[in-house]
Amino acid sequence: MAKKKQVTWGGRFSTGPGALMRRFSESVSFDRRLAPFDIQGSVAHATMLAKVGILSRRERDQILAGLARLGREVAAGKFRWKEELEDVHMNLEQALTARVPAAAKLHTARSRNDQVATDMRLYLKAACAEVDAALAGLLRALVRQAARQADILIPGYTHLQRAQPVSVAHHLLAYCEMLGRDRARFAAVADAANWCPLGSGAIAGTTLPIDRELTARLLGFVDAKGRPRVTPNSMDAVADRDAATEFAFAAALCATHLSRMAEDLILWSTAEFGFARMPDAFSTGSSLMPQKRNPDSLELLRGKAARTQASLTHLLVLAKGLPLTYNRDLQDDKPPVFDAHDQILLGLQVMAGTVAGMTLDRRRCAAAVADPALLATDLADWLVRRGMPFRHAHHAVGRLVAVAERLGAPLDRVPDAAARDADPAFRGDWRKVFDLGRALRARENTGMPGPRQVAAQLRRWQRALG
Ligand code: ARG
Repeated sequence: MAKKKQVTWGGRFSTGPGALMRRFSESVSFDRRLAPFDIQGSVAHATMLAKVGILSRRERDQILAGLARLGREVAAGKFRWKEELEDVHMNLEQALTARVPAAAKLHTARSRNDQVATDMRLYLKAACAEVDAALAGLLRALVRQAARQADILIPGYTHLQRAQPVSVAHHLLAYCEMLGRDRARFAAVADAANWCPLGSGAIAGTTLPIDRELTARLLGFVDAKGRPRVTPNSMDAVADRDAATEFAFAAALCATHLSRMAEDLILWSTAEFGFARMPDAFSTGSSLMPQKRNPDSLELLRGKAARTQASLTHLLVLAKGLPLTYNRDLQDDKPPVFDAHDQILLGLQVMAGTVAGMTLDRRRCAAAVADPALLATDLADWLVRRGMPFRHAHHAVGRLVAVAERLGAPLDRVPDAAARDADPAFRGDWRKVFDLGRALRARENTGMPGPRQVAAQLRRWQRALG
């Protein structure tokens, strides 16, 4: 017979769950990660219970001392977690009660349903702060590289075909924009998590005279003005997993950004592009081919994006068929949230290290960007300045490109007669267009890759990052 005495809800059962069921339903193997937040929640709850007269001061002090000791044991890895006690909440409560008899009163006006909702919200707020710091670290690495490479030009690509010239700095600052939006998204998740569910009980609150605002304030669930934020509906509060799902979305989108960045850098590292070399510390060799230098950190980052997207899908599918309110399915919200958190944190650090140590090959970049076809659009603009409608100009340059291809000549070397054959407007100083410096300097409107624009954007990022 299973040890009925050990489960907190054992009163109405004659035997406890069987061994297989205990193994199947336990969550302590993963939710023990919530222990610091669970203890924090219990400290606030006990403090509030004493304030409203449900606990005596003595009982409160004994409980708080016991919780502090538990916290130290957990932090030191000395706490003995028991699978048969199911989850982090019952493990901590049992251990506390065994030492502090008054702790039998701690679960007054509280259910594991509002308890776990509180733990997760505290966890998510802390996780968002951690991810934000990692995002800032990657942004700093990108801005530093951008500042260092400000004068290196490369082709920008659409359809992975050479399109128009840009600076490496402009390209790197594009990632900064994505990551800047990621920071705003994680801040929004932290704000969504910033509501205190304690007091919702299992589903319908409690008949006891608790002070929800006090608990909320003690746990830092407050608005910008310090006013407590308590969840306004007890049923929603115990069933809601929105903030966890939003966190997974923010992580999935951020991982997608890292994956796209990784793909660019993988291309840049190929012999075919040859623009960049990734640092040794983030590259690996082949067990068979001695010459190989593989960008494994970047490939793994692409792979982790799939994993992080799966965490988001997991949470969406987990909740979609559930009737209100709490259902045990919800216990399985934790592994995807924890994994999204771990993977995005690691991924951001790995990308920061890779970017910080990457070196650019100026010669290869210069050779690639010297392709005059990159300035075909500038030539069309040159015709437009002379009064030709853009659609006609596009065709005229298109004909010139065809002539160049037929002659096997670079676009800027098509002989005068052949150029005028493509369109009579190609006379005078049309070849002046094929000057890279001039082409970039002609793009100084907001958001464009002109050197002064890019320098201004760089300064904006440097200021924002402190
Ligand atoms: N371990 C549970 C979870 O994470 C805690 C809530 C349990 N509630 C319940 N009614 N069994 O979902």
